[in-house]
Amino acid sequence: MQNTNPHAVLLASPGMGHFIPVVELGKRLAIHHGFDVTIFVVAADASITKSPLFKLPQTPNPLNLMLLPPVDISALVDLTTSVVTQLVIMMREALPLLRAAISAMKSQPTALIVDLFGTEALATAEEFDMLKYVFITSTAWFLAVTVHFPHIDEEAEHKHRVMKRPLDIPGCRSIRYEDTLDRFLDPTDRNLNSSFTRVGMEISNADGILVNTWQDLEPLTLLALENEKFLGRVVKGLVYPVGPLVRPAGRSSKSEVIDWLDMQPMESVIYISFGSGGTLSVKQTSELAWGLELSQHRFIWVVRPPVDDDVSANFFNVTNSHDGTPSYLPDGFYTRIQNRGMVVPMWAPQTEILAHQSIGGFFSHCGWNSALESMVNGVPMVAWPLYAEQQMNAAMLAEELEVAVRPKIRPNNGVIGREEVAEMVRRVMELKGNEMRDKAKELQRSANQVLMQGGSSYNSLSRVSKECELKLH
Ligand code: UDX
Repeated sequence: MQNTNPHAVLLASPGMGHFIPVVELGKRLAIHHGFDVTIFVVAADASITKSPLFKLPQTPNPLNLMLLPPVDISALVDLTTSVVTQLVIMMREALPLLRAAISAMKSQPTALIVDLFGTEALATAEEFDMLKYVFITSTAWFLAVTVHFPHIDEEAEHKHRVMKRPLDIPGCRSIRYEDTLDRFLDPTDRNLNSSFTRVGMEISNADGILVNTWQDLEPLTLLALENEKFLGRVVKGLVYPVGPLVRPAGRSSKSEVIDWLDMQPMESVIYISFGSGGTLSVKQTSELAWGLELSQHRFIWVVRPPVDDDVSANFFNVTNSHDGTPSYLPDGFYTRIQNRGMVVPMWAPQTEILAHQSIGGFFSHCGWNSALESMVNGVPMVAWPLYAEQQMNAAMLAEELEVAVRPKIRPNNGVIGREEVAEMVRRVMELKGNEMRDKAKELQRSANQVLMQGGSSYNSLSRVSKECELKLH
């Protein structure tokens, strides 16, 4: 049977940080660009199906989301290996399921769109004669590094890793040693190195690369990626900035946090969160708590029990003070912060919080979804990166876009003391805050425009849609 609309199959790798932007891309393709869309999500934990994110809106064209059942990889990989390697293996094991699902479809889909960890599936797209796209859920700068990675020679590697010099990426901002990717160029992690090389090559061979950024946010890097003289020589397909694709804030269910925010003055609250899985050490959690107290500012803090190798898990089940403050927070913390702060265990409605008028700053681990959600709401940040490409994101937010402040030492290189925490909160909420807020509001305006009909990101997706229509007919 012949399709009348192009049909895009999207593949999301495990983790909310990947799943959320892939779903947003699927929604835009179905609502604004005439696609039928099927999203496959590989979930390490089947409970993701209970997430409200699984509820998709009514769209003019079919928009379906399907779970590829979790695959147990414990027999295939040492679970102490890097998360990247585990994700790559998980995605590889899911391939036969994806293949079977595509082959069972009534009519042949037009295009396969995978994220960073799903690039091995592009071979399946070739097999079914589909167009093959990669969706980078992070920055164009990160894309540039990834496609350049297989071409980094020994001398450049030595200078960066051993001599701690910046790593040059043609046409782009260099990466300082202290901002480099987590475990990047680590010679002891051969699995990671070979996975990253392969991913870089597979992305370079895709028919197109979609990136969750926009033209005005990264003009030079996007130019470098297009330019024959720079990275254009290694990238076969066009690069399409399609962002910022973020979950819209909705206020469907009643929330204690939002009710509390409703009672606070405009731009008076700082929101603190470390993404879908970020945790701090016991000492750092305590210093952060003291720093928030010292700052005297209002806050909402999404707290997870800290992780330390040398502390027993039982420690975290204990509440050690009369007011219910858990053992890993300073004694009596809940009493002292009454009326001024709110602690939310584990997970909060982040997009709703950041869109609230009482929010004046975001203390963030700089996961790219969080960074985008902050920018689309015009909220300045304290950049507190933890892992993956977050150091790079923090460098870009603080030094290039000037919408964030950073601590003097890197959070993964030691504990940041309470005085510095308090100072950074004050800089965002008081002193430097207005300048950064103005810049963030400018970004908010441009972010709103690019996704409207005729905007640059809207046009990028229209071009992808045209390519798919040509393939269809
Ligand atoms: C990681 C990377 O760090 C990120 O840069 C990469 O692009 C994807 O993988 P993660 O740590 O999950 O992402 O952070 P982030 O990219 O910020 O995504 C977290 C998402 O979960 C955001 O959309 C955020 O709104 C949501 N979230 C998180 C909540 O809704 N509530 C919470 O309490 C925490």
